[in-house]
Amino acid sequence: MAKEIVPGLAGIPVAHSGVSFIDGDQGILEYRGIPIQTLLEEKQCNYLEVAYLLFNGVFPAADELQHWNTLIGRYRILDAETVAVLAALPKGGHPMHALTAAIATLGMLYAAKDQGEPSGRYRTMARLLGQLPSLVAAFHRLRNNLEVLPPKDELDHAGNFLWMLRGKLPTELERKVLDTVFIVHADHTLNASTFAARVTASTLSDLYLAIASAVAALNGPLHGGATQATLLQLRSIGSKAQVGAWVDAILAKKEKIMGLGHRVYKVKDPRAPILERLAEKLFAEQGAHPLYEVAMELERVAKAKLGYKGIYPNVDFFSGLVYDKLGIPVDLFIPMFAIGRIAGWLAHLREQLEDNHLYRPEQIYTGSHNQSYVPIDKRGKQAKTVWSNL
Ligand SMILES: CC(C)(COP(=O)(O)OP(=O)(O)OC[C@H]1O[C@@H](n2cnc3c(N)ncnc32)[C@H](O)[C@@H]1OP(=O)(O)O)[C@@H](O)C(=O)NCCC(=O)NCCS
Repeated sequence: MAKEIVPGLAGIPVAHSGVSFIDGDQGILEYRGIPIQTLLEEKQCNYLEVAYLLFNGVFPAADELQHWNTLIGRYRILDAETVAVLAALPKGGHPMHALTAAIATLGMLYAAKDQGEPSGRYRTMARLLGQLPSLVAAFHRLRNNLEVLPPKDELDHAGNFLWMLRGKLPTELERKVLDTVFIVHADHTLNASTFAARVTASTLSDLYLAIASAVAALNGPLHGGATQATLLQLRSIGSKAQVGAWVDAILAKKEKIMGLGHRVYKVKDPRAPILERLAEKLFAEQGAHPLYEVAMELERVAKAKLGYKGIYPNVDFFSGLVYDKLGIPVDLFIPMFAIGRIAGWLAHLREQLEDNHLYRPEQIYTGSHNQSYVPIDKRGKQAKTVWSNL
């Protein structure tokens, strides 16, 4: 029987995983079997507890949690060599490139030291989880000629990020909102970045490079890049009155509306209403966001025009409004996604390495066979290539 490819591997299982579960028809997301709403409604836990849950499959007991918080807190502190590299990076470059370079730098400093299975592997994972917010905040401050701020022991993961980024203590609501945003992004089954991480790890490359691969894959606008693209899109639409005409123009050009649609969900992404409610809480405390009504109108118009195709708001539809209100610059939105998602990446990498098989799919060859070499004086004039005008 002729083999067929499945574009984008849609619907093709390639790994067993117990980390998270999604049901695209019913709009269900569970972390280790716990519905995301349950986790958030009864929210006694914070992001680091959820990271522990995703990684270990169980919540930490009180003393385990204390140890976990201390461990991750220790790794939050950047060493001088890493800061020097961040300071040397081009200030005008995108923070996702900076983050990839920063993770590669950690690999240069620690991959060899973190040898030794499995404790070295777990040390790497704790270091990466702890350092990601510090790297993002430090690059942002350095590019603005501001001093890099050390973390504060009394603040949690989200609170520390806001402190290290902005240099002022967050309000309790700001801290809670960001903590929830990180939890909402913590894992989402075998998405493109998680798959990229697993593919790299499957070659037994080191975990720094596996996470750098994930960060690189996250950046595109069809994946995590949509969070940045969605806010820029709302800004370019400008006002509620423009929405209808803007949508018609985009659909006429057969372009995609950012923040809508999902490979798996054919109903509204369950993370979207959670972020919508968070946005509303922030606006109640700090004043409305001028683009919120544009977003609401876009959702309404898009539902009428695209709902029949199963295209509804996804996680990126409202996250940008929350970040914007928290004073986070738009080019840090994708790094924010990475800070949340690293919990899931690490949990998947653990699974991958505990039962590793090299990823090596097949292609269907469409070229010819047994061709002969053509000497240069016998070659016909080539048609223009993509390089001709460069
Ligand atoms: C996420 C995404 C890549 C999933 O897409 P997919 O499963 O590969 O589906 P396709 O891109 O093949 O789209 C299927 C159909 O829906 C349409 N569609 C999908 N997402 C759309 C969007 N955001 N806006 C308009 N049309 C969309 C496609 O044009 C296509 O229509 P057609 O069948 O008439 O040609 C896609 O929805 C998208 O590009 N969304 C915008 C980017 C985004 O927000 N990404 C973040 C995802 S969490």
